[in-house]
Amino acid sequence: MSSHASSGSKKRYRVRRSGPLRGSVRVPGDKSIGHRSLIFAALGRGRSRITGLSEGLDNAATRQAFRSMGVTVESTNEETRVDGVGLHGLRMPADVIDCGNSGTTMRLLAGLLSGQRFGTRMVGDESLTRRPMGRVIKPLRARGAHIAGSAGTKPDELYPPISIAPLVEGEALKGIEYAMPIASAQVKSALLLSGLYAGAPTAVEEPLLSRDHTERMMLALGVPLQTAGASVVLDPSLEWAGGWEPFDWHVPGDPSSAAFPLLAAAMVPGSEVSVSDVCVNPTRTGLFDWLRLLGANVAHRSSGHGAGDEPMAEISVGQRGVRGSVAGGELIVRMIDEIPAVCALAAVSKGRTEIRDAGELRVKESDRIATMAHVLEAFGVPCEELPDGLIVSGGALLRGATIESRGDHRIAMSAALLGLVAEGESVIEGAEAVDTSFPGFVALMRSLGAEITEEPS
Ligand code: S3P
Repeated sequence: MSSHASSGSKKRYRVRRSGPLRGSVRVPGDKSIGHRSLIFAALGRGRSRITGLSEGLDNAATRQAFRSMGVTVESTNEETRVDGVGLHGLRMPADVIDCGNSGTTMRLLAGLLSGQRFGTRMVGDESLTRRPMGRVIKPLRARGAHIAGSAGTKPDELYPPISIAPLVEGEALKGIEYAMPIASAQVKSALLLSGLYAGAPTAVEEPLLSRDHTERMMLALGVPLQTAGASVVLDPSLEWAGGWEPFDWHVPGDPSSAAFPLLAAAMVPGSEVSVSDVCVNPTRTGLFDWLRLLGANVAHRSSGHGAGDEPMAEISVGQRGVRGSVAGGELIVRMIDEIPAVCALAAVSKGRTEIRDAGELRVKESDRIATMAHVLEAFGVPCEELPDGLIVSGGALLRGATIESRGDHRIAMSAALLGLVAEGESVIEGAEAVDTSFPGFVALMRSLGAEITEEPS
């Protein structure tokens, strides 16, 4: 398995101030929906077909994990075919499962693998190895999983590698009623996936509703699930055939990737960019709501549904000066992955932008609060780091900067946005991280007129 950290091909971007960006593009398939489509296809009874799956390294880690557990997964240019083995058909992998940079792979599989009759061990790259895993390990243990994490920086936290011992014959996971301390789709999904192997209900309540792709897919596949607001219950004792038939699903474009060309259009004078077939599940559209609130020019045209009943639309953004504002609460949950890019927009907005309630950013692929504060300062943008967010003062003259991505794809792309409006040349080192979610980022941005090139470093 390769991850950007182990592939050895380091890359650098060079970015220059660019003229108007124009055009209509598609972005790679949604990463969250891609992971889940692969999981549900692998557990189905027979051959599923998935179109639109991203070729990013994160989805590749999930694909490879299932291959190592005896699932045939074949990809052509048009589709990915998955020969599902049913809920109880996975086999013990011969080796450790390498999740690369993908926290979603590790956390979702932690839930799924806790219900198996074989043991597994999951490892990750350097960045993933620093990310907290207690949030999934602790509730899974509470329902009887034999799961252990490793010691790390904080004494009361657990980190990768994760080891899971098998359930013994006749043993099943117990029911659980879990009030999650933070909104997290990864934790919720891990519990729901483990719930497929439990003898009693899985009830999860979040403080705010996080992305609900797992719930939508389970409902589409006939899993006995009830949802109400930020609460969900999977009750296996309700009438259920105990599995599902294979499916043909299309993975909509990733709104978290669409954010980059669309925010570039909002930032560079005279621009107008459209991205088609973007996932517009309301748990993911915080950025578009936020842009409208700031006075940006955003248009939305529905374009049907994708995998597990996910709404899609063409989103267009035209440049228009925007003002800063304060974002917190549920809006943050609905745009959590877009906040580094929002910080780039804040640099050219009128007045102050304040991001609050976003402490989770500190435990993403990098500490995104500290890293973005560093990036903004390098470009000459005044900003203040808060424990749970940032205050960015817009309107300063941006100067080209040299940035290190710290192994974080969204930091590299957000710095590229700043480079498009800064004086002179900007250099972004560690740009190979972008391959985790957005292979083809440079080609796509160039097709719109952005002055960005990539080279080995
Ligand atoms: C994801 C959930 C979010 C998000 C991540 C993908 C998912 O993380 O930031 O990029 O696919 O479930 P949390 O569950 O930690 O909030």
